[in-house]
Amino acid sequence: MLSTNEAVRRLKQGEVVAIPTETVYGLAADASKLLAIQQIFTLKQRPSDNPLIIHIGCMNQLDEFSKPMTEIELRIIKKFWPGPLTLVLPRKKNVLDAITAGLNTVAVRMPNHSKCLNLLQKTGPLVAPSANLSGTPSPSKSEHVLSDFGENFPVLDGGDCAIGIESTVLTCRPNYPTTTGQQSSCASRKFQSDILIYRPGAISAEELSEFGSVEYYTPSHSIKDTLRTSNVTPSPGLKYRHYAPKATVEWLSDVEQLETLRYPGVIFLLDKTPPYTQSFTDKVVKDGYSLLCCEGSWKRFGQLLYDTFRMADKENYTRIFIQDIRKHVATSSLKDAIINRIEKAISGH
Ligand code: TXA
Ligand code: MG
Repeated sequence: MLSTNEAVRRLKQGEVVAIPTETVYGLAADASKLLAIQQIFTLKQRPSDNPLIIHIGCMNQLDEFSKPMTEIELRIIKKFWPGPLTLVLPRKKNVLDAITAGLNTVAVRMPNHSKCLNLLQKTGPLVAPSANLSGTPSPSKSEHVLSDFGENFPVLDGGDCAIGIESTVLTCRPNYPTTTGQQSSCASRKFQSDILIYRPGAISAEELSEFGSVEYYTPSHSIKDTLRTSNVTPSPGLKYRHYAPKATVEWLSDVEQLETLRYPGVIFLLDKTPPYTQSFTDKVVKDGYSLLCCEGSWKRFGQLLYDTFRMADKENYTRIFIQDIRKHVATSSLKDAIINRIEKAISGH
């Protein structure tokens, strides 16, 4: 584990270092150093057409890359930065193509993590995708980074991530995707709203609706299918397999469903209260299930989701049953983001 000064020294020398944020750990490199950025893609085994987020420690650092133009962008920044929100903005020419994968936009966020902000003040802007191998769940603890990249990998430890789910990625009119090159039904679709969410995160559509009308970029599976086969992909991360453990993930809707299960697996619950009764708990213990319960806390549920995926794989469980929270009466700003990640894990996309 590194000290902040050691992390600063290494990043300035062009090395890649894992850093903490409030969402997930990031694999960071100096945003002006091409070789270090290329190394991130190699280490993660990440396709080079999937662009990176630039992390900034103060507003001055944004000027190098972009400029928020619209009233809505400025208001969103004022309200949510530092925080778990990434804004896709028009890029300036000096942004390296390796960062944007050649797009005419750049993704930027200011993380809400004191150790990370302190680091960013000293290093300047850093690019950082999630610090996991492509295809494995994002790392919400420093030990997850070490498990993917080896025990001796340089990590600035900032404790367990407070949110545990990646940031909300969005763009505002007029920076919407345009159809260049090959047409696809997806890219040519007209977006009516002021704010377009590419990836749900801890800042919810409802919170954003204070600033204008909001829509999600991938509301249906048919659009996802179009994305995967299309050359026109405004947020390339959407077309790659994500967040999926090796174990199969399934929704668990009631106790009866569990009665029919034959294989031990992991059971991950938001609530402990009925329908999850004593007989359920007894069966869990008797049949060798591993039971995790978040006592009704959505925050805890988000924090532990990727850890649970990783634990299941490590312990060689082949199935993960997650309480079906899609119609849960309780609401939370995290709900859409958590459902999105679980559905990706279920479908394997
Ligand atoms: O919470 C987070 O955002 C974490 C922490 C480390 O900050 N980072 C993270 O990065 O999740 P990554 O690389 O795993 O995901 C970035 C997402 C991808 O889906 C990518 O396609 C999208 O942001 N993205 C990056 N630049 C973009 C751009 N110019 N236009 C549209 N989408 C972009
Ligand atoms: Mg990622």
